[in-house]
Amino acid sequence: MHFQWYPGHMTKARRMMQENIKLIDLMVELVDARVPYSSKNPDIDELARNKARLILLNKADMADEAVTREWETYYKEKGFFVARVNSQKGTGIKEVKKLVEEACREKKERDRKRGILNRPVRAMVAGIPNVGKSTFINSFAGKACAKTGNKPGVTKGKQWIKINKNVELLDTPGILWPKFEDQAVGLRLAWIGSIKEEVLNTTELSVELLRFLCDRYPGALSERYGTEEDADAVRLLERIGQVRGCLMKGSQVDVEKAGLLVLDDFRSLRLGRISLERPQDVSDRLCD
Ligand code: G4P
Repeated sequence: MHFQWYPGHMTKARRMMQENIKLIDLMVELVDARVPYSSKNPDIDELARNKARLILLNKADMADEAVTREWETYYKEKGFFVARVNSQKGTGIKEVKKLVEEACREKKERDRKRGILNRPVRAMVAGIPNVGKSTFINSFAGKACAKTGNKPGVTKGKQWIKINKNVELLDTPGILWPKFEDQAVGLRLAWIGSIKEEVLNTTELSVELLRFLCDRYPGALSERYGTEEDADAVRLLERIGQVRGCLMKGSQVDVEKAGLLVLDDFRSLRLGRISLERPQDVSDRLCD
């Protein structure tokens, strides 16, 4: 949808990230709160080894709050600092500022013991495309924050945004690509619109989504479409197409159109706040 995966870009982005990681103390990693596992590229654990780690469950406004709390616990148990955020509205940003301080306390202490005082902590934001990195940086940095090192002709190199006297943030986020050997992970990323739609069969995608929703969020579909839910998801899609007037010539249901309508309704929150995975659904590939 939003992006294409060109191997060239991927290599360049990764190389840039590797270089930038050397400069930072704290890695702020954004994941999509609806898919906090599938939207996390596990390579980052290797790349950001030895750095303080903060995971932000972004777009928390779109996810099921109870499930997001489960994820918060899950990542905390794995040793990350974690916050729930809506970068668009700025919800949770204050908490992030507190956590950044907390996450860097050890480093500050180390600096102090070595006689280094007042050296700001440097942080970098990273995540897969479309997870909200730029929105978060804008929200976190705010308007009042001056960029440092951006005086033309004076300073070359990285641009750091001064968040406060203790923290500086690299103004360009690190981009990671989603990683999915696992079909289920690919499916969930496709549901949230993170995989180019042209390469997908959207009807199949929507049928799978209907199946998932009937199972995990019973009532969500009948409430939206006024249809009875059905274990046969293809039949259900046809029924939805019928009630929503997705018809071809001869009054036959246009299932493709119906499928796109369902996907759009899901992505626009018209089916409610839905989480696509829970901690118990995923195999433990992270940080073990
Ligand atoms: P990126 O840098 O990681 O690629 O992501 P970016 O900030 O561009 O955000 C991708 C989309 O996600 C944007 O929507 C953005 O507004 C939206 N977004 C970011 N954070 C949140 C959040 O916490 N909650 C919600 N609901 N949405 C969020 P867009 O449709 O691509 O652009 P626009 O319509 O906002 O202009």
